[in-house]
Amino acid sequence: MDKILVLDFGGQYNQLIARRVREQHVYAEIKPYDGVTVSDIRAAGYSGIIFTGGPNSVYDPASPHFDPEILELGVPILGICYGMQLIAWMAGGTVSGAEHSSEYGKTALTVRPDTLFTDVPASSICWMSHTDYVSKVPEGFEITAFTEKCPCAAMRDESRKIYAVQFHPEVTHTEYGREILRGFLFSVCGCAGDWDARDFAEKMIERYRAELSGKKVLLALSGGVDSSVAAVILHRAVGENLTCVFVDHGLLRKGEGDLVEKTFRRELGVNLIRVNAAERFLKKLTGVTEPEHKRKIIGEEFIRVFEAEAKKIGHVHYLAQGTIYPDVIESGKGASAVIKSHHNVGGLPDVISFDELIEPLRDFFKDEVRSVGLSLGLPEQLVMRQPFPGPGLAVRIVGEITENKIKTLQEADAIFREEVEKSRAGAKPDQYFAVLTDTRTVGVMGDARTYGYAVALRAVSTDDFMTAEWSRLPYEVLERASSRITNEVPGVSRVVYDISSKPPATVEWE
Ligand code: XMP
Repeated sequence: MDKILVLDFGGQYNQLIARRVREQHVYAEIKPYDGVTVSDIRAAGYSGIIFTGGPNSVYDPASPHFDPEILELGVPILGICYGMQLIAWMAGGTVSGAEHSSEYGKTALTVRPDTLFTDVPASSICWMSHTDYVSKVPEGFEITAFTEKCPCAAMRDESRKIYAVQFHPEVTHTEYGREILRGFLFSVCGCAGDWDARDFAEKMIERYRAELSGKKVLLALSGGVDSSVAAVILHRAVGENLTCVFVDHGLLRKGEGDLVEKTFRRELGVNLIRVNAAERFLKKLTGVTEPEHKRKIIGEEFIRVFEAEAKKIGHVHYLAQGTIYPDVIESGKGASAVIKSHHNVGGLPDVISFDELIEPLRDFFKDEVRSVGLSLGLPEQLVMRQPFPGPGLAVRIVGEITENKIKTLQEADAIFREEVEKSRAGAKPDQYFAVLTDTRTVGVMGDARTYGYAVALRAVSTDDFMTAEWSRLPYEVLERASSRITNEVPGVSRVVYDISSKPPATVEWE
């Protein structure tokens, strides 16, 4: 299998570069520049190496550097932005910085004939983001592209298969970015383009089957996509020796706990322990109104419940987590896993007795996880679901949480989701749900005055959930949801639609 190393120098697009490579069916892995040595790279047998961008200047002694021997390995290299300047600097060229030479944003690019640019017209638009630039190319290199302000927007040393671009081919604003990456992967590195997340998962299952044979594995199943797919992979590998503990904190969406149980225990035959801990959580949450306090209580209680179950099971050889690739800290400080808050059982290693942690999805992006999940027979309803926060409905009930309020919100939320899902107009929002505000307002039903809660509907479109835009849902969808909620859910007299984007608002209300 061809493998591309994305050597990370702190660029904001490192994940995106790996993503773009994998879209071409070539496996890519990101390593921090200070997490590998030249001999590691030689031993790993990469088909190519991509140096990412980064915020530094190569002349700053504190900036990230790498052993220049990497240029002599005979492995093709593509430098991007800072990665290009670093190649120039390592190979004896000159990098200069000047205010007037900085470029940011869409920029007209002119390219000369080159392997990377086979499918790129002479003039196109690229995405630039730099102050420093290569003012003198190293010996053996030649300039292959330029812009108005940047005399060397790309360079190459064909004999050593070293290529570099000052702009960012990985961002969609670069019109022919995909073609440039393809040029590197297929024409320069000679990759076959036969990598597939599903095949990869199948091979992993086979490997686990051999390695984990006879060993006990414990997994905290939240019912979310990641832990569900991790559970199926491990179940296929070790069968009965996998135990999944599903802590139902009573703050899940309507019918969700039962769906998880039905899917895993009955349909897939997974050894599942469902802990119905709603009462326990609710007791702890009584009288609590502050959002962060709610989150803390739920996170801690989750761990306590999981711990109690795990103790009953006794020693296990492996504790499994559904960590996925974007959760892994890649840059600078070494590739240690971020323990995701709450459902990924952060902090458990201290209190649960196990020999080793396994993370079957550590190499996968979210959409790859989904495609693996579907190919392993998980129902679409489970695999394609929208994200759901660990603390569940607790952060969608403003103010104190009571059993009644949970029920009210579950009903209102189920209606809204159903109406959005039924609608065929336009693209579906990336996340959509109902919120129970703690405001009560006057209404009229029949001839009687009512005084019920206001439910807020929230729907957003987003790429990464770091920013989000409120969705322009069709009025008909909003109308049907509003009418059904006020008619079918007791205690609700008003429905409002949240038209705030993030920032300044967040997606969740708490
Ligand atoms: P915010 O509200 O921060 O949400 O704009 C961004 C995305 O993160 C989800 N979210 C969480 N997920 N644990 C989670 O696993 C949490 O505590 C949590 N809080 C927010 C939210 O649903 C949205 O998709």
